[in-house]
Amino acid sequence: MEKAIIVYWSSTGNTEAMANAIADGVKAAGGTPELVYVDNVNVDELLAQPAFAIGCPAMGAEELDESVDSFVSEIEGKVSGKNILLFGSYDWGDGEWMRLWVERMQNAGANIIGGEGIIANLEPDADAKAALEAAGKQLAAF
Ligand SMILES: Cc1cc2nc3c(=O)[nH]c(=O)nc-3n(C[C@H](O)[C@H](O)[C@H](O)COP(=O)(O)O)c2cc1C
Repeated sequence: MEKAIIVYWSSTGNTEAMANAIADGVKAAGGTPELVYVDNVNVDELLAQPAFAIGCPAMGAEELDESVDSFVSEIEGKVSGKNILLFGSYDWGDGEWMRLWVERMQNAGANIIGGEGIIANLEPDADAKAALEAAGKQLAAF
């Protein structure tokens, strides 16, 4: 893929740090990452790609942030066959928001890269960063 678009939302920087680790993996694989805040996504450009990443922390009660939820609703009918890497940070939960999000995208016909979302408890540690970089390499390979 010419460029790998990584869409994200983050309030305190943890999911943003995850997005940066994915971008490092894309670069290590020779790709060009494009980090885009969810409010600034060009949906047509995004959906022209065979694969992309979306990141959002657990918010509400195991929910997506509202801006990401409306973005996902906007693309949901158009992601069949797309390869999507999902990621996000959480704190006190058990990752329920991510399991629900994966299920939602799979119901829309998307293939989730790695089979499940990548989650990190608060700030990504070295293990989480390594997993994110590996996923970034996979993303760049599409
Ligand atoms: C309003 C609000 C709601 C949250 N809801 C949850 C939740 O349901 N489950 C959970 O595990 N963490 C929850 N968190 C914790 C965040 O997911 C966690 O702080 C995360 O690291 C924030 O990521 P960010 O730095 O990318 O914004 C919530 C935090 C806030 C501020």
